[in-house]
Amino acid sequence: MFDPEIIRRDFPILSREVYGKPLVYLDNAATAQKPLQVIDAMDKLALSSNANIHRGIHRLSIESTEAYEAARQTVARFIGASDARGVVFTSGATAAINTVAYSFSERFISEGDNIIITEAEHHSNIVPWQIVCGRKKAIIRVLPCDESGNLEYGKLPELIDKRTRLVAVTGASNVLGIKNDIKRMVDTAHGHGIPVLVDGCQSVVHGSIDVEQSGCDFFVFSGHKLYGPTGIGVLYGRPHLLEQLPPFMGGGDMVATVSFNKTTFADIPLKFEAGTANFTGAVGLAAAIDYLPRLDGRAAGMHERNLLDYATAEISSIPGVRIYGTGEDKCPILSFSVEGVHPSDIGLILDKMGIAVRTGMHCAEPLMQRYGVTGMCRASFAFYNTMEEARLLVEGVAKAINMLG
Ligand code: ALA
Repeated sequence: MFDPEIIRRDFPILSREVYGKPLVYLDNAATAQKPLQVIDAMDKLALSSNANIHRGIHRLSIESTEAYEAARQTVARFIGASDARGVVFTSGATAAINTVAYSFSERFISEGDNIIITEAEHHSNIVPWQIVCGRKKAIIRVLPCDESGNLEYGKLPELIDKRTRLVAVTGASNVLGIKNDIKRMVDTAHGHGIPVLVDGCQSVVHGSIDVEQSGCDFFVFSGHKLYGPTGIGVLYGRPHLLEQLPPFMGGGDMVATVSFNKTTFADIPLKFEAGTANFTGAVGLAAAIDYLPRLDGRAAGMHERNLLDYATAEISSIPGVRIYGTGEDKCPILSFSVEGVHPSDIGLILDKMGIAVRTGMHCAEPLMQRYGVTGMCRASFAFYNTMEEARLLVEGVAKAINMLG
């Protein structure tokens, strides 16, 4: 049996109160909480070795550099990358997608080309491509999702033509939670020689990732959704592709030689890591990744699924409630709206009960338009949530709807 009460001891924040009520934290898809092990790993580095990486010959710099490069190896193992040179540390998934958007488009996109994204994308996997298309006079094509939130995979071949340069797709929508069939997307795109970028922000948290097996060409995720720190994220790119791309930002650590006439760049991954990297964050992220095997992953996944199934069944039975994203293979994300009730009002009432959910457009405005709503409520679960918390959510939502008439 999976016991979240034991796990919760590693997450002291979960014992705090909000407005005199025990905190019920159900905004994990936005930012998950960090275990003590992550906080301790960052503290240890800051208290004992803190020094700039890759630059100093002194002991502290060497220790910080070793910790940072060890974190890179940890990430590579975690995502199944056979070559850690493909792992670039960024400030987050958004920075990672913007890096690809800029560098890939500089090398491979010209006027009249097109990039395919999907209707279920977060703004961070839409806007960078729009900026690229504006700069390069290229076009965005959108793969739709059906009413249940599943991508209409069969329409992908119709969108692809000789001018398609990239497919960018989320591993799982932060609104719908459905895990997309990345293998199918990759197989179709690769059948036409088109590389694929996967936004793994949600999917990396709820399922094992193997970038070699999935075949994707770029894979991005953030540390803070994976029980790690903010300000650190990962861009994985196939080394042979990264090698062909120009750097996104210029500065220290990303160069081989610099003169006023000419600069040559460092090899990957450093070519994409201009400036002092967030080495403390990288160590924190590695600690988060190392923390996960402490759990029985299968049991933790089943526990999250039980929370989701229970909350979905109960909340969907309330009159006027509409649930978004139905599918067998889902992250524990429950988005819903209530007819005639503004989602923020529900969120504010829940907050007063100590229950943290996200409300609004969830950085996915096109998806809101697709469903004809101005916003949704979203409860997102983690392995440390309890059945009692799911029950409090259900009770709270029912009460809020009653109060709001
Ligand atoms: N992408 C984050 C979310 O879904 C912020 O809430």
